[in-house]
Amino acid sequence: SEAATTVPAELNAPSEAAQENKEVTVLYGSQTGNSQQLAEEISRKLEDKAYHVTLASMHTYKPKNIKDVTNLLLIVSTHGEGEPPDNAIAFHEFLLGRKAPKLADLHFSVLALGDSSYEFFCQTGKELDQRLEELGGTRLYPRVDCDIDFDEDAAEWMAGVVAGLEKATGKSSSASSTALLSPDATATAYSRTNPYQAEILENINLNGRGSNKETRHLELSLEGSGFTFEPGDSVGIFPENDSELADQLIAEMGWNGDESVPIGKQGDVLPLREALIRHFEITVLTKPLLEKASLLSKNNALKELVATGNEQQLRAYLEGRDILDLVRDFAPWEGTAGDFTAILRKIPPRLYSIASSYRANEDEVHLTVGAVRYDAHGRKRAGVCSVQCAERKAPGETLPIFIQRNPNFRLPENGSTPILMVGPGTGVAPFRAFLEEREETGAEGPAWLFFGDQHFSTDFLYQTDWQRWMKEGVLTKMDVAFSRDQDEKVYVQHKMLEKADEVFQWLEDGAVLYICGDEKQMAKDVHKTLVSIIAQQGNRSEEEAEAYLSHLQQNNRYQRDVY
Ligand code: 2AM
Repeated sequence: SEAATTVPAELNAPSEAAQENKEVTVLYGSQTGNSQQLAEEISRKLEDKAYHVTLASMHTYKPKNIKDVTNLLLIVSTHGEGEPPDNAIAFHEFLLGRKAPKLADLHFSVLALGDSSYEFFCQTGKELDQRLEELGGTRLYPRVDCDIDFDEDAAEWMAGVVAGLEKATGKSSSASSTALLSPDATATAYSRTNPYQAEILENINLNGRGSNKETRHLELSLEGSGFTFEPGDSVGIFPENDSELADQLIAEMGWNGDESVPIGKQGDVLPLREALIRHFEITVLTKPLLEKASLLSKNNALKELVATGNEQQLRAYLEGRDILDLVRDFAPWEGTAGDFTAILRKIPPRLYSIASSYRANEDEVHLTVGAVRYDAHGRKRAGVCSVQCAERKAPGETLPIFIQRNPNFRLPENGSTPILMVGPGTGVAPFRAFLEEREETGAEGPAWLFFGDQHFSTDFLYQTDWQRWMKEGVLTKMDVAFSRDQDEKVYVQHKMLEKADEVFQWLEDGAVLYICGDEKQMAKDVHKTLVSIIAQQGNRSEEEAEAYLSHLQQNNRYQRDVY
């Protein structure tokens, strides 16, 4: 019409370049599913702002294609001694390697997930971030390193990235596009940020009298939660600290438990005692925590410990100590209770691999929880969540939970594919879910389980289940390693080595290999044993055997759920 002389720029048809700028590639690498969830969240936000989003796991993405990307977001976690998660290994190797392309036109940002109680905090994210810059990329927004209580920092990164993109692409329309992401399959009102109070239906000790261990079998009700899950998924539990530990801390500091302290960045408050029980982590010390604490301590020893920068000395202090040790060792303190709680992390949820099949037990979820108890520095220590489950949670009480999907640990789609499962101790949990599922769906593929624990008579977790499945043919083979029933240690990998020819034959026949349980020792030793089995049986060098396993991993035939 004649009234409109100038057309607002944002109503103009976008130029080709601008359209290209609306393309965003979001890649995630994650062992537990946290990165994936955050990647899905930022992708939804961007799609709402009319960006065209390509969302993929680093595992399935062809790293070479990165040279054609204009806007790249990476969300990646770090494991063990600064290692990338399994499904990011190949991507990480390519990008850090010689063959990585120049990326002069790339805009990027990295969200790094990690745990500041480990020395190589967020290492993988840091490496990828630095490398993208080296290759010529420009940051849309600075990297954010998230600790285990990642929600607030991740939200900040997302807001920063959205603003950065709007700037880079020249603020354009906020018209909503049709969502390309399929709706979340487990979408319910309940989630990590709004956990469901699950009633405990059953809570029993799986170990016999005289065992060194206490492994709890928990059955939780999902009735009314709307939660469903697949075998391989985990449940997150928000635990509470032992009130006795909170009271000791309050007494030690001469605080008043009824005093209000701030929690989170939104201005919420809680009475101190409740906050120490329900909100803050008080059982783990980290380097950043010690650094912040040194500003509140009037004790020079702490300032020195932090200032000398002697990493080894610092690590030695952190190991096995908690906040109560800290306040005792480095008194006197200055500042208010609120100043002190401000340096604490939020208590993170604990993830447990689900031990049941949803199809076999609708409205229920089963967990296998090993109670962690040990002595350190002259005091008895207890795993926060596991001992709460063991000692302070009876049937009829509730636990705040959510479902954490784990697409990296999945039964083969084809029920006739052989599966080879290695799960000593509580690592056996997901295999109970696998076999329940296979029984329920009538899958007929061969299944072989390697299980291990200390003693046959007291520690054979779920023994009657395995026996029943053996009889029914759901489980085809089972080998057990009871490490302390004889003089020399016998572990699952020794049993695998004894059957090296059959293990190799199963792999050659297309079996999917699963490892679940301890990451630091067991999973590493089992990996080494697999390398020697493949080398020996397949007539390969050690390097070729490693390549064989990498190839399996790339093809989702070597999956790990390790912790
Ligand atoms: P241990 O405690 O007698 O050393 C479950 O915890 C089982 O795993 C136990 O039998 C335990 O044996 C065993 N285990 C300990 N370290 C292991 C390792 N590096 N590899 C495989 N199994 C291990």
